[in-house]
Amino acid sequence: MQHFQVIQTALINGEWIDSKNKLDVINPATKQKIGSIPNLGVKETQQAIDAAAEAFPIWSKTPPATRANILLKWHNLILQHKSQLAALLSMEGGKALEESRGEIEYGAAFVRWFAEGCRRVDGDIIPSDNPEKRYLVIKQPVGVVGAITPWNFPNAMITRKCAPALAAGCTVVLKPSELTPFSALALAELALEAGIPKGVFNIVTGDAESIGNTLCEDPRVRKISFTGSTRVGQLLMAQCAPTLKRLSLELGGNAPFIVFEDANLDKAVKDLIASRFRNNGQTCVCANRILVQESIFETFLSKLVDAVKKLKVGLAFKDESVQLGPLINQEHLDKMQRLVQDALDKGAECVLGGKPLDMGGYFFEPTILTQLNPTMQISFEEIFGPILALYPFRTEEEALQIANATHAGLASYVFTENMPRLWRMMENLEYGMVGANTGSMSNAITPFGGVKHSGFGREGSKYGIDEYIQLKYLCLDVS
Ligand code: SIN
Repeated sequence: MQHFQVIQTALINGEWIDSKNKLDVINPATKQKIGSIPNLGVKETQQAIDAAAEAFPIWSKTPPATRANILLKWHNLILQHKSQLAALLSMEGGKALEESRGEIEYGAAFVRWFAEGCRRVDGDIIPSDNPEKRYLVIKQPVGVVGAITPWNFPNAMITRKCAPALAAGCTVVLKPSELTPFSALALAELALEAGIPKGVFNIVTGDAESIGNTLCEDPRVRKISFTGSTRVGQLLMAQCAPTLKRLSLELGGNAPFIVFEDANLDKAVKDLIASRFRNNGQTCVCANRILVQESIFETFLSKLVDAVKKLKVGLAFKDESVQLGPLINQEHLDKMQRLVQDALDKGAECVLGGKPLDMGGYFFEPTILTQLNPTMQISFEEIFGPILALYPFRTEEEALQIANATHAGLASYVFTENMPRLWRMMENLEYGMVGANTGSMSNAITPFGGVKHSGFGREGSKYGIDEYIQLKYLCLDVS
């Protein structure tokens, strides 16, 4: 590997591709240009699909043990380059360095998990009722996969999609976010070094719309896996209808974080900070609506204010002591101001923060808002930034009603020491994931995904590889 010169070219059929037409990539902490990527479109996406379609017959027939060895080598190379990959990730994504190192480990864990799992994609023999027939089921890779990944996890969302696809025997065309493409290209360089054959893993950088449209419209692409907003997920689903592609959609959340009066409050505060301020509030599973039982509201608030005041904001890409970096761009900074202003105009109280920080990049103060009501935009939008929105509730029924009163259904959290109540809440929260007395639950070995408008499909876990596999029923006449 070129040892971290930033790669600024796309990857098609094993070749690094450049173009005169470029997009700049900006460090969100300084607003300065880090480099640029080729702004590719329809033609290059079709070339990448050609390459992936041509590579599919051989890769899909490569023995799983060989695919597993290549993926394990990729995993090892990723970990060997952990600090360089983390530095790159913090530079383009604004993430705190320690968190970036955590993301590299998180990303590598998907590669290892699916490398191990691809040798266990077992079929079935179904006991036959007919003495003249035998019934078998085999599992085969779906074909060429289009993966579209977001900027908030520039490394781990790529491995979470591409590792199971490659493990299953699919070939991939990846469109990484144009805001954070360098982490993807560095991963691709390591994939080539690990021995992933040409055409099996392709990366097309550039304009989201033309690349996305081409992936959705081409009948050779048999599956799209997307992480991003519900609005874009709906558009992709409509675009994939004519070619009846399989889809995995990991879309927006609006996570309730419910704290009952019998909870361990210190633990709840600590976990709330971990959840809400992960990647400076920019994850789909961040606690979005903090529901606190009325009897402990003031005590909880005061503990929370003390903890939030200690958080250090700054140039996360170069200062190890910084916990919160910038937001990704001006649009997200503007959104924080809009949400706070709208809430204040409608009667909210700003207990802490509430303004942009004059530090050169897209920084916003860690903020706490109370006196909120359902008419405020912050109550129904996914915040995606460092704002804590607190709401009091009286009873368990009321907490559940507020928590479920949203179209979103990704992550939810509940804190109580009352075991029967914990069970009731875990079963009745209408979400794909429930953190029970914990604010962090993502890892490679459990199923990540949502219900309702948060999408469908599961990533990670033993279920993750099924998204890239189709069943074939074989009926054998033995008469
Ligand atoms: C996301 O925000 O989309 C992913 C978060 C996670 O993997 O925990």
